[in-house]
Amino acid sequence: MTEIPDPHHGILPFYGQPERVLQRARGCRLVDDQGRRYLDFESGVWAANLGHAHPAVNRALRRSLGTVLHQGYAFRSAEAEALAANLARLHAMPGGRSVFLSSGSEAVNLGVQVAMHLSGRQRLARIDSSYLAAFGYGRLAADNGHRVDIRCDDLAAVDAVDWSTVAALVLELGGASIETVRFPRADFVQHLVEAARRGGAYVVANEVTTGFGRSGCWFAYQHEGLAPQLVACGKALGNGYPVSALTVDAGVAAALDAQPLRYAQSHQNDPAGCAAANAVIAAFEAEGVVERAAATGEYFLARLQALQARHAQQVVQVRGRGLMLALQLADEALARQLAAGLFDAGFVVGQRAASLRFMPPLVVTRVMVDALLRAIGRLLVQRPA
Ligand SMILES: Cc1ncc(COP(=O)(O)O)c(C=O)c1O
Repeated sequence: MTEIPDPHHGILPFYGQPERVLQRARGCRLVDDQGRRYLDFESGVWAANLGHAHPAVNRALRRSLGTVLHQGYAFRSAEAEALAANLARLHAMPGGRSVFLSSGSEAVNLGVQVAMHLSGRQRLARIDSSYLAAFGYGRLAADNGHRVDIRCDDLAAVDAVDWSTVAALVLELGGASIETVRFPRADFVQHLVEAARRGGAYVVANEVTTGFGRSGCWFAYQHEGLAPQLVACGKALGNGYPVSALTVDAGVAAALDAQPLRYAQSHQNDPAGCAAANAVIAAFEAEGVVERAAATGEYFLARLQALQARHAQQVVQVRGRGLMLALQLADEALARQLAAGLFDAGFVVGQRAASLRFMPPLVVTRVMVDALLRAIGRLLVQRPA
């Protein structure tokens, strides 16, 4: 067979074109196949909240590999039932129920489908630029024409919606994807949720990224004192192993009993993902990870603010809550240059438009944060304003 040179090494280049090969990941530390070391300030794609290769999660997965990994629809799963009980407890939803899928996109999509099924309505509302799912609505759950975008922090925009036609308000209370690290104002969130509820729309909290301590609380809706009827989780639920959850409160569960919805997916309630997730929750509780994330997040934010004070011309804004932080620079070119320089210096950070994003494993240490801040400071001095 003739070899065809391929710059993508056989991989479809749908997102990014990385060049280096990762060989090992443990905690916040990564090592590539050339022996170069990195600190991971992205947690993979914001998933390894406990740090990579957490021993208890690995043990749970190995146990599942040796017993049941995947099982189909003919049996119950003790791991899935234990995880449902864990999530009902964490969401304070007595009588709540869950279903487990593989990705955050699936969990959000199913939440919207449930709301549409129960309400008989077709429209989906979101704060503008919230990330919903990789599918893109229009292909699976609802037509794009059925999506209502509400400008963030605009109270009048909330009042302009005819909520009696909306099935679901999907709430992203800490954007990371599109508007890099954005937190809607509390009064706007209260107004939005009250309007949705009054109009009979279901409130679906999208905690795929904000869940599991990322924002300094277990779930971002807790910052606002909300009680959503449906919650979608993914990413950190499996600490990097693909598992997601849709949890509904007792009212929605009862409504589904009265009006059943058929939904089949091959990896629904697979024991392996549920075993990983149960181990994740146990480790979070045993190690006080959420409290630790809140404290390290405050330290990180203060360090970023101090950096801004020293480099006021190049650093325009600092945003953050918990370990979800961003540094907005004077322009995109500078952000790109810094992200590339940091990668070469051994720091994996996110970059979108003019912002750098930091969402490290929640076990990141102050020493690691200091090392990152020193590296950013050095790069800013090398490129004077
Ligand atoms: C807020 C939010 N919702 C949904 C998703 C989709 O999750 P997944 O990529 O696991 O399908 C993401 C992914 O980044 C996300 O950030």
